[in-house]
Amino acid sequence: MYLGIDLGTSAVKTVLVDGAQRVIASESRPLTTTSPLPGYFEQDPAQWIDATFATLDALKATHASELAAVEGIGLSGQMHGATLLDASARPLRPCILWNDGRSAAECQVLERRWPALRAISGNKAMPGFTAPKLLWIATHEPEIFAATKLVLLPKAYLRLVLSGEAIEDVSDASGSLWLDAARRDWSDAALAATGLSRGHMPRLVEGCAPATTLRGELARRWGMTRQPVIAGGAGDNPAGAVGIGAIRPGTAFVSLGTSGALLAPTSRIAANPDRAVHTFCHAIPDMWIQAGAILSAASCLAWVARLFGATEAELLAPLGLRPQAPSAVSFLPYLAGERTPHDDPAVRGMLDGLSHGTDRGSIVQAVLEGVAFALADCRDALADAGIAMTEADAIGGGSRSRFWLSVLANVLNVPIHRFAGGETGAALGAARLGRLAVTGEAIAAVCTRPQRIETFEPDAGLVDAYAERLPAWRELYRPRH
Ligand code: XUL
Repeated sequence: MYLGIDLGTSAVKTVLVDGAQRVIASESRPLTTTSPLPGYFEQDPAQWIDATFATLDALKATHASELAAVEGIGLSGQMHGATLLDASARPLRPCILWNDGRSAAECQVLERRWPALRAISGNKAMPGFTAPKLLWIATHEPEIFAATKLVLLPKAYLRLVLSGEAIEDVSDASGSLWLDAARRDWSDAALAATGLSRGHMPRLVEGCAPATTLRGELARRWGMTRQPVIAGGAGDNPAGAVGIGAIRPGTAFVSLGTSGALLAPTSRIAANPDRAVHTFCHAIPDMWIQAGAILSAASCLAWVARLFGATEAELLAPLGLRPQAPSAVSFLPYLAGERTPHDDPAVRGMLDGLSHGTDRGSIVQAVLEGVAFALADCRDALADAGIAMTEADAIGGGSRSRFWLSVLANVLNVPIHRFAGGETGAALGAARLGRLAVTGEAIAAVCTRPQRIETFEPDAGLVDAYAERLPAWRELYRPRH
């Protein structure tokens, strides 16, 4: 039996997976994000621990014998967040999250101080990444910077609490900007450019390697007969890749979570930092992931649901299964700024083309289309790096909407596939990494492709209609910096 724990942005999701890779049970607890100033996003790390423990306590109440048999645990996590710990490993302040835009000025400082940044990390310095956040702290909260002894990404902090050890996997570490992506090791030059050294960093392991074990008292709390191994795990996007068996080139997929991404596993680095393509080490050795990342995807649907005082399901139901034509309204999904391709933390969203005839449905449709157009920008940025996409699998909460996947198939002009349970992709991927760390089985034998339950084919008429709209949609973007 294996556990996958996905420390997301909106919730912690924990799945219990058996030896036949069936999800036996899952539990989820919500998380809240605070925004102390516009464009700032933070979370209290104590919340992650409470939510994780609550999911495990709940699994113990309903599935005690299965939980008792857990041998391996994998962690997946929201990427890039800066969790700063003091000498007693206590958080010094709330974690600054992946979508926080406060450190734009520091990105420029970082690129000046370390001109090899793009070549070594495979990334552009963007405020979402961890390193510029530390420069911001050094300038704006110097006493906190001085007290910082350890810098952890969110799931590494969770692992520290679960095991007592500070360890990170190379996929999540790629989102820090401190990683030499080709060597899969910390870059001393990168750390020095932010006034840090290896001493501030956790030990690195591969995602499928055994990292540590669960503390004895926690294993007893959850009735486990042994102290399960904890694997390296992965950032949520690489973990999602493992969950759907996207472990070799030609297995691109789209993630519609709180954030969105178009991701392509590669056997060599094919970076395009100038267009804000992300380079991540994969959660399995000798593979990488090139990604276009957008900051607001399913969170745009959540936003419009809040605005209309309706549930997401109530908004989606009247749209039917597929669009008849593009909405008359256009939407820029930049509610928290944007990374790929603009790298513009200051830009904000927009609804364009409103009229007296505009109804709720045309706004909701425009929101879904705006996210799809932003993913088309990601596709083009990846294409510039030589990565072509002929089909894509869809994962994340947004993949539950058939209407949305149909829009995506038409905007991207490729077939989009859906899986049963695709919305738990990252947690399942984490559980698979937990299993690999225990059994040492062949990666391909465990990271199989789950059965596709539906394919959304592009429709020639709609493909043309969306292709016609795309240039006008792009024109709506005006840089704010
Ligand atoms: C990826 C990114 C997000 C977060 C939160 O670069 O910032 O996908 O991992 O999900």
